[in-house]
Amino acid sequence: MSLNVFITRQIPEEGVNILKKVCQKVEVNPHDRSLTYDELLNEVKGRDAMLTMLSDRMDARLIQEATNLKVIANYAVGYDNVDIKAATSKGVVVTNTPGVLTDSTADMAWALLFSVTRRIVEGDKLTRAGKFTGWAPMMLLGGDLVGKTLGIIGAGRIGTAMAMRSRGWNMRVLYMTQSRRNAVLEEMLGAKRVDLETLLKESDFISIHTPFSEKTKHLVGAKELSIMKRTAYLINTGRGAVIDEEALVHALRNKQIAGAGLDVYEEEPKLKPGLSELDNVVLAPHLGSATVETRTKMSLIAAENIIAVLNKQKLPNCVNPEVLT
Ligand code: GLV
Ligand code: GLV
Repeated sequence: MSLNVFITRQIPEEGVNILKKVCQKVEVNPHDRSLTYDELLNEVKGRDAMLTMLSDRMDARLIQEATNLKVIANYAVGYDNVDIKAATSKGVVVTNTPGVLTDSTADMAWALLFSVTRRIVEGDKLTRAGKFTGWAPMMLLGGDLVGKTLGIIGAGRIGTAMAMRSRGWNMRVLYMTQSRRNAVLEEMLGAKRVDLETLLKESDFISIHTPFSEKTKHLVGAKELSIMKRTAYLINTGRGAVIDEEALVHALRNKQIAGAGLDVYEEEPKLKPGLSELDNVVLAPHLGSATVETRTKMSLIAAENIIAVLNKQKLPNCVNPEVLT
């Protein structure tokens, strides 16, 4: 096919290779960085398909300029970086890569949970600095997990996988969700669906897995943080702006909560002032899906999504199906 595809970052070659078999022109951003908005605006012209990252802002203006564009295949499960309304009204299909990153992201939430509760990063810093002068009875005491309460905000695929991993620690599970009741969590874990206030009040660990939208923006702000237990930990592998990050810095500084583990930030890659100076937070650079296996599968799925759109085949991962009718 005389099709023209642009990939906005270097990704595992598996997906690129299947695109090259089907499409005449497949170009990859040659730089080891995201494109600027203006560069993206320039690259979108004349393309039939864009394989985009969550760090690319695909807004209405950009979609308007993309005269040939048929599909935006986002290399992520989240797609809050794409103006879905603008895409739909221009007849552009938007796809994502759900499913394949569920386990890696759930694992990342637990990695952060362990790191902050058992003070791994603080301990690593101390050890490297040559300050480990011998075992000490009161050094870097953390918290236990067994029998504690885990609160899941957003019990979709990833939130469910995160919660299922709590079986090893025999935890009580609370969850809230905007969609229907989670039968898997209720039947397998005896989990209880609660409102946000109950979840905040009763949980020892809270893990955020809800997508970002105007509805979930600052879902956890100053008021919500003040309801949490002073011994509780907050984990976020979803989207940064679900938390009011400034309020979180304040709560961590004043020990209103015990700690936080963050993989995502409100204005990525920028951090709110003061965040990086705190010891009771572990900061990861958006690594939720960052395993070789998962990123390889994401490259294949994103490529298959593009090929399906261009071939007018069935589309399992379309996020704006109304565009097809
Ligand atoms: C990662 O944040 C994703 O949405 O895939
Ligand atoms: C979100 O889309 C999830 O997979 O949990």
